[in-house]
Amino acid sequence: MSVVSPPVPLRPATWRDIPAMLAVERAAFPDEPWDEAALWSELASRPRRAYVVAAREGHDGLEGYAGLDLAGDVADVMTLAVHPGSRGRGLGALLLGRLHDLAREAGATGVLLEVRSGNEVARRLYAARGYQLVRTRERYYRSGEDALVLRKELLP
Ligand SMILES: CC(C)(COP(=O)(O)OP(=O)(O)OC[C@H]1O[C@@H](n2cnc3c(N)ncnc32)[C@H](O)[C@@H]1OP(=O)(O)O)[C@@H](O)C(=O)NCCC(=O)NCCS
Repeated sequence: MSVVSPPVPLRPATWRDIPAMLAVERAAFPDEPWDEAALWSELASRPRRAYVVAAREGHDGLEGYAGLDLAGDVADVMTLAVHPGSRGRGLGALLLGRLHDLAREAGATGVLLEVRSGNEVARRLYAARGYQLVRTRERYYRSGEDALVLRKELLP
């Protein structure tokens, strides 16, 4: 498992992060990025939603961010995105691990997420961290690609 080096501090997202989150979003999901209004709406839904950003001190912009919905016993990963220039250094795993910690702290016993069937990198990340297939939503995305619903049980 890779370890981020040098370490990238994670912190809760604030309103001021929205432009930088949008830049990461557009780079990470070029086909169907969330727009600015969607990010405002997500942050307006705190504390039910929890957003974490990865920001290296002294550097402009963000290296990645991730969001969680904390309603009920099972938390939902809303998004996970690492800027292309910061990938492959353990940051995705670090952000996902922080979401797991936040879900546990909120009393959740499991985490659900959706991933495109063709997203091999993300699928590998989730499989290595204990996610298992719950169901397939056929042709769920505009492109015709299937969505895989994955679930991880959280140990206390
Ligand atoms: C998926 C994503 C968040 C991974 O971020 P990352 O910082 O590169 O991931 P990490 O460096 O932490 O690697 C985590 C795991 O991903 C897998 N992985 C990372 N890069 C990979 C690559 N180039 N090829 C294959 N697997 C890879 C590995 O399983 C790795 O675990 P390991 O280091 O224990 O082997 C990033 O690629 C991304 O933002 N993609 C676009 C947005 C997206 O698809 N988000 C997920 C939506 S469900």
